[in-house]
Amino acid sequence: MTIFCLTESDLRQRRSLKWRTYAPDVLPLWVAEMDAAVQPAVRRELDAALDRGDTGYPWGDDYADAYRASAAARWGVQLDPAQLRRGGDVMNAVLNILEKVTEPGDGIVITAPVYPPFWQVTSEYRRRTVAVDLTPQGRLDLDALEQAFAADDVTAFLLCSPHNPTGTVHTADELAAVASLCERHGVRLVVDEIHAWLVDPGTTFVPVLSLPEASRALVAISAGKSWNLAAFKAGLYVGGENAGDVLDHLPPLATQSTGHLGAIAHAAALRDEQAWVDQACVEIAANKQLLNDLLHALVPGARYRPEPGTYLAWVDCTELGLSNPARHFEQVGRVAFSPGANFSPAHGQYVRVNLATSPAIITHAVECIASSLRHPV
Ligand SMILES: Cc1ncc(COP(=O)(O)O)c(C=O)c1O
Repeated sequence: MTIFCLTESDLRQRRSLKWRTYAPDVLPLWVAEMDAAVQPAVRRELDAALDRGDTGYPWGDDYADAYRASAAARWGVQLDPAQLRRGGDVMNAVLNILEKVTEPGDGIVITAPVYPPFWQVTSEYRRRTVAVDLTPQGRLDLDALEQAFAADDVTAFLLCSPHNPTGTVHTADELAAVASLCERHGVRLVVDEIHAWLVDPGTTFVPVLSLPEASRALVAISAGKSWNLAAFKAGLYVGGENAGDVLDHLPPLATQSTGHLGAIAHAAALRDEQAWVDQACVEIAANKQLLNDLLHALVPGARYRPEPGTYLAWVDCTELGLSNPARHFEQVGRVAFSPGANFSPAHGQYVRVNLATSPAIITHAVECIASSLRHPV
């Protein structure tokens, strides 16, 4: 089975954000959608639901149970059913948790560069964004985090694990240290683990709730990224053993916006398609190596260090001498990546490359970059 084998002409039939935003001659490797077909079990369950006319409201705990089973089998984490609630989607869950654990005017720490909606979720709701840079190696900077947590009005830390866009997989030691710092400073730890299953073979993802230090932490998660199910909105809230103060007091609508077909699709993926994501991770790891090799050969000024998490590559284009690399690649090279500035104001010279696609498309994309550099800036 090869997952990332769809051709560009097949993919151009799609009507999603990734494939419709740019002009038809621009190759899109930006937003985090996978160029993959729907998994057989997901399709089977959705077809069966549609055959039944089963398009009402969600019922039951299939989705939460499928996640608990996956977490137990994959990471050895035993979760009690009482630790889970259904949500609309992951960012919706993050927002509801943050609204519960912070007050207007409070500071919420995020680690830059980070997934752009983290900036929105923390700043648009009368909360203050406190951005703490990752280290140059993309790791959590514990000293800088502690300094930020020490401010009286900082009440939450929103962490992305594994980290989008750098692909960093935080270690157990890093997560335990961060959780302890949060406890020491009265800061609530909120972790977005939507990329949890997407790690290179041989790397272990550490769910924050496997750590005793994080018993008050709250996690937002779904099968959306790992099985490419963003079209089927459905997320989960997962609370540590001592997070009932938040989980049991979410506003009613926070847990009532899951789509029924979303819950069915995510449950099917988690229950029956674990081998699919394992294969996806093998192909993604090979794609990271391919990108690295191609950049070395064709765009030697680009700096890329493959990291084991996610299917996203974070590429430093500083040495290419472009005023705006993402815009140049789109306008001249006809290839679209996510602009680094969206992830932090200091990273305008970076682009984020989506590697959940075929080796042929990645090769074409790097050729587009190389050819754009032969044209005047
Ligand atoms: C870190 C992170 N969180 C959340 C999301 C979006 O998830 P949802 O559509 O469930 O809100 C993404 C999508 O790329 C993501 O990378």
